[in-house]
Amino acid sequence: MAPSSGKLTVPKIAGRKVRDGDDAIAMITAYDAPGARAASDAGIDIILVGDSVAMVVLGYDDTLQVTVDDIAHHTRAVARANPNCLIVGDLPWMSFHVSVEETVRNAATLIRAGAQCVKLEGGRKRVPMIEALVDAEIPVMGHVGLTPQSVHAMGGFRVQGRQAEAAVELIEDAKALQHAGCFAIVLEGIPVKVAEAITDAVDVPTIGIGAGPHCDGQVLVYHDVLGIEDRFVPKFVRRYADMKTSTIDALSAYADDVRSGAFPNAEESYHLNDEQAEAFGLYGSGG
Ligand code: KIV
Repeated sequence: MAPSSGKLTVPKIAGRKVRDGDDAIAMITAYDAPGARAASDAGIDIILVGDSVAMVVLGYDDTLQVTVDDIAHHTRAVARANPNCLIVGDLPWMSFHVSVEETVRNAATLIRAGAQCVKLEGGRKRVPMIEALVDAEIPVMGHVGLTPQSVHAMGGFRVQGRQAEAAVELIEDAKALQHAGCFAIVLEGIPVKVAEAITDAVDVPTIGIGAGPHCDGQVLVYHDVLGIEDRFVPKFVRRYADMKTSTIDALSAYADDVRSGAFPNAEESYHLNDEQAEAFGLYGSGG
């Protein structure tokens, strides 16, 4: 377990590049206080209160259903745990698409909920929003490649930048995000060589998910890492635990014990002292 050395800040993350000899950034999603405490105790650098909460916690098929209020609710829970990690609030779909003013107000809601910065999906067309946020002193993490909020526009959750021309567009997007003021950029679902080229092309850290080993950090979804469910997992996920099996084993043992009467036992129950038991016995027998 990597030791945690105090709460991480945006400037500390912004300067971290593996090519300069820095450690790669370890980022994980979390949506509640126990998850945030576990991430912090494990020495994770960044917690993303991701809109993936829609799919892994709230049962939706995509991320489009969650609102700023939903992300703020989960951000507050994470922040209450006071983790030694940078907390990133994910701007959900439609919270940064309508106008610059709405974008800044929505981001402020996440900052007031306890995030230190926000993340938003998209390339060059998001530059005006990013500039306005930076101008309002709200640090921004970019996110390019497979952007799940574009699921319908992409025709599904598809790897991006497979064609040379599209790969070059992604590099230009990443450069534009850096230029607009992003302090880090998530690269999701893109070929290894393209992620490597972006990582070389920008001075801010890149954090990959399904983008190969040459990024300045990696991010995965909490529920995927822990195997909390065993539904479809993309090939880039590495499971570090099988919590679904251990959870079901534990819950079935509990149900068996309830049904057999083995739970609760005397030690798991509260008892009257002898004097009160006697008095209660008299009362119970009508005395
Ligand atoms: O919401 C999320 O979990 C994300 C990560 C996949 C980067 O955006």
